[in-house]
Amino acid sequence: MKSILITGGAGFIGSHTSLLLLEKGYKVFIIDSFINSSDKSLERISAILKKQGINIEDRLYFIKGDLRKPSDIEKAFEMSFKFKNPIRAVIHFAGLKSVYDSVKDPLNYWENNINGTINLLKVMEKYSCKNIVFSSSATVYRTQANKLLKEDDICEPVNPYGNNKLTIENILKDIYKSEPSQWRIASLRYFNPVGAHESGLIGENPMGTPNNLYPRITQVAIGKINEIKIYGSDWQTSDGTGVRDYIHVLDLAEGHLLTLDYILKENPQILTLNLGTGKGTSVLEFINTFETVNKVKVPFSFVERRQGDNAFVVADNSLAKSILNWIPNRNIKDMCRDGWNWQLKNPNGY
Ligand code: NAD
Ligand code: WQD
Repeated sequence: MKSILITGGAGFIGSHTSLLLLEKGYKVFIIDSFINSSDKSLERISAILKKQGINIEDRLYFIKGDLRKPSDIEKAFEMSFKFKNPIRAVIHFAGLKSVYDSVKDPLNYWENNINGTINLLKVMEKYSCKNIVFSSSATVYRTQANKLLKEDDICEPVNPYGNNKLTIENILKDIYKSEPSQWRIASLRYFNPVGAHESGLIGENPMGTPNNLYPRITQVAIGKINEIKIYGSDWQTSDGTGVRDYIHVLDLAEGHLLTLDYILKENPQILTLNLGTGKGTSVLEFINTFETVNKVKVPFSFVERRQGDNAFVVADNSLAKSILNWIPNRNIKDMCRDGWNWQLKNPNGY
């Protein structure tokens, strides 16, 4: 039974990935500070597995801790050594993720995201664990009109959050180069993760008013926000609204599992992979699908373009598909249905 450390495992993507790893028989150590999540997600993970008849006794351990404190990270490694099942690999989700906040308070973002990651990598070195899957983002790319983004396209982030992600990718490249026969590293560039587990027990739990389209749609549908303000109607797209590559969080979780299995079985290497569906959906198409699938109204109006926005951000996902044998097979309707189920069951989050 492999031991895996999941940083940020109580968060949106981390909770779905932790659940999947537990379903597949891994031993999971989670470290999370709850700065953007709640311990309820961990209770819910246990509840889902119990319902499925899956025993997680001695397989799920939690450390409330902050990556900015190395001793918190060491606790997880020490625990795994005590159990004589040392942590084999880390999936590193922990980080602050709001573009808006990163522009307002860049130092906080650099401090949390970069210092936290450096501490993690140092502790990993100390305990001779040199296998890591990192949550990067499509936000690192310089976007290009109506062209699918490929891993070797130019990266040129336009905000502190994106700069953090690219910097961490570069740190990972540097440590790989320093010991290429030792490290197994994957940076996964996610596109726009949405949806929720079909049980409606875990999902995205934004603190305060969300900035992203999808949680805004569910909050409008449930009556917490009056309407969606669509940022621009004059983009060079089929209907004039922005096009994105929305990906179901469960497909993303499966991408992590396959990446983990892949890097652990292959020779040491460093990989960068896009995790997106390869299909673009406009804001209007998304709202229309949400209304049709869930039989609810999502009022909207058009406003000015948002600063820093782009017309079209869609993945070329052929590399991840071929290397991992990964097939993201949940469509926009599934994303709309599952996220709404989560919102209805948890109108105020956890
Ligand atoms: P999330 O905020 O739900 O999860 C991140 C978790 O990390 C939270 O539980 C938070 O409490 C924890 N955390 C933050 N800083 C920490 C620290 N210093 N120590 C310990 N725990 C800490 O976000 P998410 O949507 O699940 O995203 C996970 C990762 O994927 C993030 O790194 C994010 O930047 C990246 N990502 C997210 C998206 C997206 O749109 N959701 C897209 C691309 C990349
Ligand atoms: C999607 C589309 C908006 C809100 C962001 C980050 C990115 C990544 C994912 C982490 C765009 C439009 C949105 C609204 C709108 N996160 N929109 N009205 O900007 O693609 O990506 O989240 O890595 O780094 O930048 O996602 O959901 O904000 O926007 O019209 O109220 O919806 O213009 O076309 P984005 P989003």
